[in-house]
Amino acid sequence: MDFSDRQGRCVVLDEVTDENWRAVADVAPADEQRRFVAALGARYLLLSMRGGVWNSLAIRAGDAVVGHVMWAYDEEGGAHWIGGMIVDAAEQGRGVGRAAVRALIGRLGALPSCREIRLSYHPENAPAGRLYAELGFAPTGDFEDEEVVAALAVAPTAG
Ligand SMILES: CC(C)(COP(=O)(O)OP(=O)(O)OC[C@H]1O[C@@H](n2cnc3c(N)ncnc32)[C@H](O)[C@@H]1OP(=O)(O)O)[C@@H](O)C(=O)NCCC(=O)NCCS
Repeated sequence: MDFSDRQGRCVVLDEVTDENWRAVADVAPADEQRRFVAALGARYLLLSMRGGVWNSLAIRAGDAVVGHVMWAYDEEGGAHWIGGMIVDAAEQGRGVGRAAVRALIGRLGALPSCREIRLSYHPENAPAGRLYAELGFAPTGDFEDEEVVAALAVAPTAG
């Protein structure tokens, strides 16, 4: 499935490689968004490398790395999680975030073990809450580190 931003650029999730990691590390939110997420993609890259839980992906629009997102599987809860979502400040509002989350839902949803996708966002992070709600995530009533936990049920794939 293809996902595009509002400029018609193809939005793709790439593995982090020797070629793109610097650009992923440099991804930065706007200053006022730093209360919601890490100040740089580098923080999440290190978490993925050191923690053994999260898996970082580069968000690419056309030829440019424009964001970071990561995913994990919580064996205990049986859900896949999305985290560390940052679209670089200069690239926000162009449809990249929506395309990237849709692409990740498609990717995780295709895994045979995936029944539910969860994520969390700060209650005051209205853009994030709106984006996730538009894509079908509904608050579960749970909170994680003061963040609203929202979930999307994944239909079992045929066969
Ligand atoms: C949240 C974020 C990932 C959205 O990415 P984006 O590329 O700017 O979003 P898009 O252009 O794809 O917009 C998708 C939807 O998000 C919501 N949205 C994005 N920016 C918004 C804003 N400034 N105000 C309100 N809603 C907004 C809207 O619902 C929008 O849909 P619409 O354009 O039809 O109104 C981006 O703003 C970001 O990186 N923010 C800082 C980090 C962060 O908060 N990450 C999420 C942590 S849970």
